[in-house]
Amino acid sequence: MHAATWNHLYKTCIPSQVRHFSSVQSLFLGYNMDIDCIKYVKEKDMKMLEKTSFFPLLKESMARGKAAEVIVTEKEYEFLAGLHYDEKAMGGQAGIMANLFALFPVREVVVYSPAFCTEQAKFLSKSGNIFVPDSECNVVPPSDVAVERRPDYHFIFEFKKGTVGGMAIPRDNRFIASTPMRLQQEECTPLFTRAYEYAVLSGFHLIEDETPLAISRRHVDLLRKRARIHYEAASMQNDALRGKVADFMRGFDSVGMNEGELTSLVELSGEQAKTAVTGLYEGLKTVKERLRVRRAHLHHLGVYMNVIDKTLDPLQSRDSLLFAALFAAVKAKRGSITQVGDGYSGLDVPVSPSGMKMLSELGAYLGDDAFETTGIHEEGDTYVVAIPTRVVADPVKTVGLGDTITGLAFVGE
Ligand code: GLC
Repeated sequence: MHAATWNHLYKTCIPSQVRHFSSVQSLFLGYNMDIDCIKYVKEKDMKMLEKTSFFPLLKESMARGKAAEVIVTEKEYEFLAGLHYDEKAMGGQAGIMANLFALFPVREVVVYSPAFCTEQAKFLSKSGNIFVPDSECNVVPPSDVAVERRPDYHFIFEFKKGTVGGMAIPRDNRFIASTPMRLQQEECTPLFTRAYEYAVLSGFHLIEDETPLAISRRHVDLLRKRARIHYEAASMQNDALRGKVADFMRGFDSVGMNEGELTSLVELSGEQAKTAVTGLYEGLKTVKERLRVRRAHLHHLGVYMNVIDKTLDPLQSRDSLLFAALFAAVKAKRGSITQVGDGYSGLDVPVSPSGMKMLSELGAYLGDDAFETTGIHEEGDTYVVAIPTRVVADPVKTVGLGDTITGLAFVGE
């Protein structure tokens, strides 16, 4: 019944978001990029992966339909590198978002990654607005920097809803086997003091000790003088370090996460995470308060949600979520987005009935009848903003979808 209202809001978000993205000048992205080697898991692959140390986690991830990521040993890396993959793609939040933002008329998208190398550079878009630091920390086109070494490969096991080897899989998702993230101590002060409007940091889900956080702290202090700064959470196995990463994000302008990452962050606060939409909302509020951020963002199948300070504009926040949902729908349907105009065909994907149901449940919980059609509710010093998304029944792949959503939603706001 409310699909017409949401369809209308979806259409009207486009001109205002396009205008906004056309005014963005400069973005900074750090730190993780890699080459994702993607395998669509079949029964015979399960047999082959049986001998790996992460096999129990892979099975659990599939049985629960949950995304998960582990760091693998050098020996297992070699074994995984020897397998056949269906495709290779740009990986890592910074890499994926660089290619996404490069689609827009943004003057410069600066990517700073310890994993940058010549082979990796081949996966960056050739749009001409992506830049990387050279050895003197000047920003230059990626083709001007030669770094000959082995790129970081991550191994992505995409699984589909259904059954594999007798195991029931409740939804499409992926399991990732990765290399650790290392950050070098480099001066490079002028790189971090440039006039970026937005900075997105990510990659600490793959750290093995606190050194990268200490190095990054200096970057953050410099970047924050001018840019709005966002941290994008990702699946992390080490509980102690997860706590340190959470401490690191404290005071950022914004954080983004999916439901799995939300659960982990809520549990850090000693609370029990709940997975109904009302529980996700309570969880997001807990995270926002604990991390003292101005904006906490959640992307979940069927619904995206922001809890934002009153100083932010709830209408713009809603537009940014709607715009992100259009692009995510197209990416899910086609596997990639090659131009901004593609995003608009997200309108062909229907608004998710389960998303609308979640909105109405949340509206009832908030005691706000209008919420299911406005997606905006005022509470104390904050607004909760939520939208029903456009869910593609059979996505080509799931890896990178979250980054598309989160990146557009943060900058679009
Ligand atoms: C994580 C993974 C990377 C993947 C990305 C997608 O950063 O390490 O391989 O591309 O998530 O969101």
